[in-house]
Amino acid sequence: PLVSMTDMLNKGKAEGYAVGQFNLNNLEFTQAILLAAEEEKSPVILGVSEGAARYMGGFKTVVKMVEGLLEDYKITVPVAIHLDHGSSYEKCKEAIDAGFTSVMIDASHHPFEENIATTSKVVEYAHAKGVSVEAELGTVGGQEDDVVADGVIYADAQECDELVKRTKIDCLAPALGSVHGPYKGEPNLGFTEMEEIGNLTGVPLVLHGGTGIPTKDIQRAVSLGTAKINVNTENQIASAKTVREVLAANPDVYDPRKYLGPARETIKETVIGKMREFGSSGKA
Ligand code: G3H
Ligand code: ZN
Repeated sequence: PLVSMTDMLNKGKAEGYAVGQFNLNNLEFTQAILLAAEEEKSPVILGVSEGAARYMGGFKTVVKMVEGLLEDYKITVPVAIHLDHGSSYEKCKEAIDAGFTSVMIDASHHPFEENIATTSKVVEYAHAKGVSVEAELGTVGGQEDDVVADGVIYADAQECDELVKRTKIDCLAPALGSVHGPYKGEPNLGFTEMEEIGNLTGVPLVLHGGTGIPTKDIQRAVSLGTAKINVNTENQIASAKTVREVLAANPDVYDPRKYLGPARETIKETVIGKMREFGSSGKA
């Protein structure tokens, strides 16, 4: 069933595992992620960036596609449809009105007081409708759709504490060295800060840029209160590889089902691997 992220993340934090947010890009991604979650008996968060929503038609198309698949596939595990990196109060409201069960308001690039004001406004609207809210502090490196960073800025622990207390968000994404897209070399995550922020705020933490983070770092982050990990690029790379292989091996193929079907299978296997790594398998 469609639910907010609140219960799944609180449970994950309490029991020591993280729920994966896997980003949607099209129908096949959505199918693959839902089938993986059901097969693994894992809760799951469907991440939808504003750019991906635009690509698929809009927020309403996304909600109706997900609702259709939940019925047709008879999905029983908890599923959240989450706006990823919402850029404004208006965009968050639009997503909620279309049926999203969770939103991220990313006002991290604005001055602190402005971030608090915008985030509070989103929380007020969202909570009245049972929708969960994620906010961000600091800067995640790299680029994802419309979200472009010109560097990595670590979140400040005191600001994190103040943001959580004043806005009443359900979870927090403190940028601590993670990057959207592939890492150049090993990631260097700020675990000391992560521990401090987890203890101070008490809310489940979110790790963006989940692609390419070694298992030991994932486990350490989870032990310090990270209950949500976002993955997009890894599924994109895996599916593109399969499409390339299928088309190269079969130059006469033109039916999209013949190359997108195998890509869907690859995405599903990748998501299952992540669910096992994050410890969410069997937790639905
Ligand atoms: O918001 C989405 C994520 O942070 C995805 O990061 O593409 O590096 O896996 P990634
Ligand atoms: Zn992100």
